[in-house]
Amino acid sequence: VGAVEFGTELGIPPLAESEQDASGARVFNLDIESGETLFLDGGPTETWGVNGAYLGPTIRAAKGEKVRFRVDNGLDEPTSLHWHGMHLPPDMDGGPHQPVGPGETWTPNWTIDQPAATLWYHPHLHGNTADHLYRGLAGMFILDDDNVDQLKLPAEYGVDDIPMIVQDRKFDDNNQFDQSIPFMSTSGTLGDEIIVNGSRGPYHEVTTRLVRLRLLNASNARMYNFGLSDDREFQLIGTDGGLLPEAWATDRVQLSPGERAEIVVAFEPGETVELRSYEAEFELGDMAPARLNGDEDRFDIIQFRAADTLTDETEIPAVLASAPDLDTHDIAEVRTFELEGRNINGERMAMDRIDFGVREGDTEVWEVTNVNGYIHNFHVHDVQFQILDVDGAEPPPDLRGWKDTVLLIPDLRYRLAMRFDGYTNPDMPYMYHCHLLTHEDQGMMGQFVVLGEGE
Ligand code: C2O
Ligand code: CU
Repeated sequence: VGAVEFGTELGIPPLAESEQDASGARVFNLDIESGETLFLDGGPTETWGVNGAYLGPTIRAAKGEKVRFRVDNGLDEPTSLHWHGMHLPPDMDGGPHQPVGPGETWTPNWTIDQPAATLWYHPHLHGNTADHLYRGLAGMFILDDDNVDQLKLPAEYGVDDIPMIVQDRKFDDNNQFDQSIPFMSTSGTLGDEIIVNGSRGPYHEVTTRLVRLRLLNASNARMYNFGLSDDREFQLIGTDGGLLPEAWATDRVQLSPGERAEIVVAFEPGETVELRSYEAEFELGDMAPARLNGDEDRFDIIQFRAADTLTDETEIPAVLASAPDLDTHDIAEVRTFELEGRNINGERMAMDRIDFGVREGDTEVWEVTNVNGYIHNFHVHDVQFQILDVDGAEPPPDLRGWKDTVLLIPDLRYRLAMRFDGYTNPDMPYMYHCHLLTHEDQGMMGQFVVLGEGE
């Protein structure tokens, strides 16, 4: 990852428009299309996007709202849209069992029933997820609730509340995306430059003292260990599934593919500071993706340029949200998952094999271990989980909030508690998988169903 010029103003994905239908649902139109994007001076890159040529609009909805989507596939091949992190019925999930054929329309709908959080959406067609995401299909899905509305956090979208869809990309000699997997890479496609919201070499003008960044690792395989160029502390306020009980001051936050973090950075008038990725803080030796492109173990992501006067109307409250509160005294089932090669518990994904059923209303503990020497993470659909411990030790502060994806440092056992509530269907599964997309496509994925009474 070479020197970055910071010559492009950070693009902010537009907020998706919606209309109210007769049932009171908010209806969003999402058109999946192919197009061209000018990343390089030499000429355009062929890309895919939602309501545009690259990435998609930010969808925003509040807890309790009914949402409905018209997903139109304007491509000439099937794809799907999955709502990552969302609690919803399995047939609305947009996973491998809900493909949308070329020219077809898919109209999922559900009621938002979880706290304020930074979620996202992306394709999930089995075997094609890496390719479709790399071409540009992804967007943010921000959830609000009454609690977050009454906090005085930075919350003006695009001004002091900034979506940051972070991706690595590589371009070939014809300015096209190069998805080849580097020799020796066990993780998958790795780019050699970073784009944020589709902007290459971005900067952002800061006008407020406090700025909230909604960081999303939407890369296929790359890890990020985010920090600021002067190593200043910032406040981590939220993880995948919502706000933390209280802010945590840190100078690094690490995200594997699929994970999100909300951080608040305090700026001084007139200063310039960069957000970077630093070498991972766990032992992976040469397998650490940040190091796979030559020797570079740190690289710039975006430059922030603070105005000479900054407004100062927001704050980080002492209490942000209630802590995850699963009742872990009554665990219905403990399951173990071992990730190795492209397998979970020795099996690869098969569309027609349901790996197990869980009971609606049950709380389970899933003990997950990466028994490989290289990197994997673990994502579960439908639920947000609580990490009880990491190899017997209390999880670090960044793993204490609601999570739907967790990095698995090799050989450590992660104990995840989760409760399956609300939606049952003995025939339609949810997925769990590694979110390194090449691993997922190659079969590092399994399926479970949520069973109602008597099923
Ligand atoms: Cu982000 Cu199963 O996906
Ligand atoms: Cu993996």
